[in-house]
Amino acid sequence: MSPLSSTRLAEALAALRGGEVIGLPTETVYGLAADAANAEAVKKIFALKGRPADHPLIVHIASSDALPQWARVVPEAAWKLAQAFWPGPLTMILRKQASVPDVVTGGQDTVGLRCPAHPIALQLLREFAGGLAAPSANRFGRISPTTAAHVRDEFGAGVPIVLDGGDCEVGIESTIVDLSGDVPRILRPGMISQEQIETVIGAVAVGGDHASPRASGTLDAHYAPRTPMLMLARTALLAEAQQQRALGKRVAVLMFDALVDDNEGIVLPGHPDAVAHGLYAALRTLDAMAANILLVERPPEGIAWLAVNDRLRRAAVGAGPDDDAP
Ligand code: TXA
Ligand code: MG
Repeated sequence: MSPLSSTRLAEALAALRGGEVIGLPTETVYGLAADAANAEAVKKIFALKGRPADHPLIVHIASSDALPQWARVVPEAAWKLAQAFWPGPLTMILRKQASVPDVVTGGQDTVGLRCPAHPIALQLLREFAGGLAAPSANRFGRISPTTAAHVRDEFGAGVPIVLDGGDCEVGIESTIVDLSGDVPRILRPGMISQEQIETVIGAVAVGGDHASPRASGTLDAHYAPRTPMLMLARTALLAEAQQQRALGKRVAVLMFDALVDDNEGIVLPGHPDAVAHGLYAALRTLDAMAANILLVERPPEGIAWLAVNDRLRRAAVGAGPDDDAP
């Protein structure tokens, strides 16, 4: 059975071929997708997101067969990683073909490529027979969407077609590995870990250096709620919550395994996969509680928690009302 009805598929394909932007489920987060070969269509994504034009987009492809169409150099490591992890939550940065529009790559000489594992995304990519540029379907700097309803909340009539693929299984964005330089480098941690990547291609560096391509997911403030947010170990969190309440403040908490005291908020199972899966939806719900402060239990350190810690740290840095908010 195909994941999309023939009507829904035809409608989505017509929109993409007509240069429109649609909401697309992937296994990581929902994307705002447009024909990556159509510069005018891609510009609409930037306008919708309010994203600076020099922040490059990931091009989604149906399989590794399409790699040479987008990348002028496909190193052995890229074939190996595609073989090991595609379809899946891994994006590779490679030197781009001249045909890739500048608007997709933010004027850089590299392009980000990913084959997503969601059945709807894959079906659409196969039928579309091209690449789909798709950033996460949130306004720039804000919380990424993991349900179709999140995308509709964010863009409303601005994005009339949002394909509903249910809850995103992974829940946080893909791991980004840069294969365009001398050494492979992880630019954004994700649920495919450094260890998993090293098993396939050997040692990789972590974090960008001065020569690395720009990745907006690596800005300090990102993935952020509007409510001020603090991350604290459990004991400190409970003390802070009590103190804030004593001051008459409304507190919303995110805790692992159990809500303690008379705190209001959300509990996620204390496992990295489960936290990644539920994190963005939880942050959106907590943000909507209109509390004065959001207190988030600090997850354990350690390799399995790296990607979740990365997103939470950036969310805490960026939290707070927009500068131009009334
Ligand atoms: O899981 C994901 O990767 C999701 C889903 C929709 O596929 N997409 C996503 O896209 O997270 P976005 O645009 O929110 O984040 C893409 C990241 C950005 O940090 C961007 O700067 C980086 O990828 N990126 C894209 N192309 C790049 C390039 N050529 N060089 C360096 N970074 C690049
Ligand atoms: Mg994003």
